[in-house]
Amino acid sequence: MQSYWYIACQSTELREKPLSVTILAHPLVVFRSVNNTIAALEDRCAHRNAPLSKGTVCQGQLECPYHGWGYGSNGGVTKIPALSETAPISENLCVKSYLCVEQDGYVWVCLAPTAARERPLEFPHLGQPGWTSFRMKTRFHAPVDACLENFLDCPHATYVHRLWFRTPTAKPVKAVVRSLEDGAVAEYFEEPREGSLVWWLLSRKRSQMQHSDRFIAPATSRVDYIFNDQRHYIITSSCTPIHDTLTEVYTVITFRFGRIGWLVRLFFEPLSRLIIQQDVKMLAMQQANIERFGGASYKFIAADLLAPYIAKWRTSLKTGSLPPPAGMEHQVDMRL
Ligand code: FES
Ligand SMILES: [Fe+2]
Repeated sequence: MQSYWYIACQSTELREKPLSVTILAHPLVVFRSVNNTIAALEDRCAHRNAPLSKGTVCQGQLECPYHGWGYGSNGGVTKIPALSETAPISENLCVKSYLCVEQDGYVWVCLAPTAARERPLEFPHLGQPGWTSFRMKTRFHAPVDACLENFLDCPHATYVHRLWFRTPTAKPVKAVVRSLEDGAVAEYFEEPREGSLVWWLLSRKRSQMQHSDRFIAPATSRVDYIFNDQRHYIITSSCTPIHDTLTEVYTVITFRFGRIGWLVRLFFEPLSRLIIQQDVKMLAMQQANIERFGGASYKFIAADLLAPYIAKWRTSLKTGSLPPPAGMEHQVDMRL
């Protein structure tokens, strides 16, 4: 898990002040160093372990708030105010530094010395002409697995987001699930859109919709709704595990609607925030109950299309076992 890129924060959150972030239970400090390059260090001063994230950035160096030691982007100590200016600074005075890059308006960090992928996953169509985007940052009191399952699960929407997004119609829907090189995808056919405020606003009644839910290991979900009139909505969520049961979810919603995309965003954005908050509430309830019973005890059914893949992939990355092979396919008859 440590060799993947996780979002530490949005680029706009990181200005002149250092920022404290926790990824996979590792407390880190991210800051802007010389020439606006970003750096991520362990958030603990080598001297007396004060939190460096409470310090300041001075000429590209991170300064500890306690005795003013300075750190460069590689974690090396560059300045010790209490020693004479000419005194040499030992090379083993340093804190751990981590790989980090800025991409798609986010600061990404990898905790391992080498990353599984050279660059973080890109958000599809973000910033491209004809597409409109907005971002959401949402904290879930739930593990990454539960978040991903939720984002890629249709049946919950008829209950948790009733009327807003889906209403139970009990109509038969066919789904095809395929395993991929980097996860799995579920495609739906003849899916009902009645009784949904979202689709009443965002789609033409007679247009045809193609819908797919995709899990990209280890911590990304991507949902596509493609209409035959060129409209296309993509919801991509990148999960950052803060610790086992706390997840920061960075969602980008990118869509193509024609010229009035900016206008559509005015109601699409608050609506999306409202819908995601319904999930936040549900997942917090689920997690609290799991803790009440001292652990999870799940039953799986055929309509839990992607959950088995999420579980198998994430277990295989944690234990080093083989993930499910690509190219498997099965069909599920369900009702939505
Ligand atoms: S604790 Fe950071 S300089 Fe002393
Ligand atoms: Fe949901």
